[in-house]
Amino acid sequence: MAKISPLVSVVAFLLQLSLGIIMLIMMIMDVVNANNLQAVPIFIFGDSTVDVGTNNFLPNTRARANVTPNGIDYPHSEPTGRFSNGLNTADEIAKKFGYNRSPKPFLSLVQDNSTFLRNVLNGANFASGGSGIRQSTGNQSYGEVVWLGKQIEQFVTVQQNFTAIMGPEATWKKLSESLFIISVGSNDLFDYNETTSGLSKEGYLLSLNSTYRNHLENLYSLGARKFGIVSVPPIGCCPAVRAAHNATGCVEELNAYARIFHTVLDTLLSSLSSQLIEMKYALGNAYEITMEIIEDPSAFGIEETNSACCGNGNLNGEKPCAAIYHPNVCAKREKYLFWDLFHPTQEAAKIAARTLHGGGKRFVAPINFSQLAAAN
Ligand SMILES: *[C@@H]1O[C@H](CO)[C@@H](O)[C@H](O)[C@H]1NC(C)=O
Ligand SMILES: *[C@@H]1O[C@H](CO)[C@@H](O)[C@H](O)[C@H]1NC(C)=O
Ligand SMILES: *[C@@H]1O[C@H](CO)[C@@H](O)[C@H](O)[C@H]1NC(C)=O
Ligand SMILES: *[C@@H]1O[C@H](CO)[C@@H](O)[C@H](O)[C@H]1NC(C)=O
Ligand SMILES: *[C@@H]1O[C@H](CO)[C@@H](O)[C@H](O)[C@H]1NC(C)=O
Ligand SMILES: *[C@@H]1O[C@H](CO)[C@@H](O)[C@H](O)[C@H]1NC(C)=O
Ligand SMILES: *[C@@H]1O[C@H](CO)[C@@H](O)[C@H](O)[C@H]1NC(C)=O
Repeated sequence: MAKISPLVSVVAFLLQLSLGIIMLIMMIMDVVNANNLQAVPIFIFGDSTVDVGTNNFLPNTRARANVTPNGIDYPHSEPTGRFSNGLNTADEIAKKFGYNRSPKPFLSLVQDNSTFLRNVLNGANFASGGSGIRQSTGNQSYGEVVWLGKQIEQFVTVQQNFTAIMGPEATWKKLSESLFIISVGSNDLFDYNETTSGLSKEGYLLSLNSTYRNHLENLYSLGARKFGIVSVPPIGCCPAVRAAHNATGCVEELNAYARIFHTVLDTLLSSLSSQLIEMKYALGNAYEITMEIIEDPSAFGIEETNSACCGNGNLNGEKPCAAIYHPNVCAKREKYLFWDLFHPTQEAAKIAARTLHGGGKRFVAPINFSQLAAAN
């Protein structure tokens, strides 16, 4: 029987000790991470692509996702108000910056005065499903929604709360480091109607351009400096549109509108950032990110890009994903691009967030979200 030399056991002891120290350091780092001591605040604005429960607080909205089977892959299969089987793009972006998921909806934070100030220091989510850049967007289809202008008014409150907590100077500094993520525009494009708007398609785009510009200027004047903006995905490819048009492919007219919108936004941001000298931005091209998946799904581990996982009728695109419609729910949810008739699955949201965070110029420009966060 081999005898263990004292030297070997000393070495073994030291090895164990150092392993223990490494474990301890990792535990401490975990705690730091969990408390987000280093994470910057994230403020999220926009529509259902990034709504994490705002609309649960609107009594008169028809754009609700706090019903099963939404959230089937969320912890405890809880339907939280996210239009997703699990997490959505807001959550997946927040995860890239050290959080477990998106900051909570502003409308849920304000329910509890005792925790509000502590929570809001990490950010808040103002996004509302069905909403848009224009005030009238979504109203016809969904009733009550919180449009982008109102979301920014709610942020004014938060800005005042920051000022009350830490004073104007520290607030200014904190907000200048914070990320302002905005994902909006699809509902505005869906809602274009020459009769009701009294505008040509081009005129409508100009109105979106100048209204979006006002929103961004307002946020800048409130202290926002770092803008992570996401444009409109290929809305002509979503199961709802394809089912309604009985289309075998995507509906090109809507896709073309989405592409033009991106171009308009690109020009707007470049023009705005030359005037607002401290403004930094990253413009995510949701059109290209999604098309890349549609054109080569297997490269992303996706198998189904046509039909929704959850829904009913042609392509599961004729009925929303809600228990009252007795929807089909696919088994391999991680293999689907679309969760419901309009929205991506958690898997697709994860791909989008990864690309926005670290992708190249075809997908996010002039810099990506990780560079935006690091910029000073
Ligand atoms: C919430 O807190 C603020 C300031 O701490 C206070 O002025 C306000 O009255 C409180 N509101 C409620 C509903 O308790
Ligand atoms: C939405 O439209 C309805 C009428 O269709 C109107 O009563 C309501 O005030 C509108 N809501 C908003 C927030 O604009
Ligand atoms: C946050 O700010 C708003 C506006 O100043 C104020 O009404 C509200 O009471 C503040 N909330 C807390 C918890 O201090
Ligand atoms: C546009 O609005 C008018 C008036 O509300 C309506 O009659 C028409 O059907 C709408 N057109 C489309 C394409 O939705
Ligand atoms: C949809 O298209 C298919 C084949 O292109 C056709 O068989 C079907 O009748 C169409 N359905 C409707 C509602 O137009
Ligand atoms: C949108 O607004 C920006 C800034 O005002 C302007 O530079 C740009 O030309 C506008 N876009 C279009 C298509 O008119
Ligand atoms: C985007 O982000 C990563 C860091 O996450 C950076 O290393 C990379 O250079 C950027 N990619 C491009 C193509 O700009």
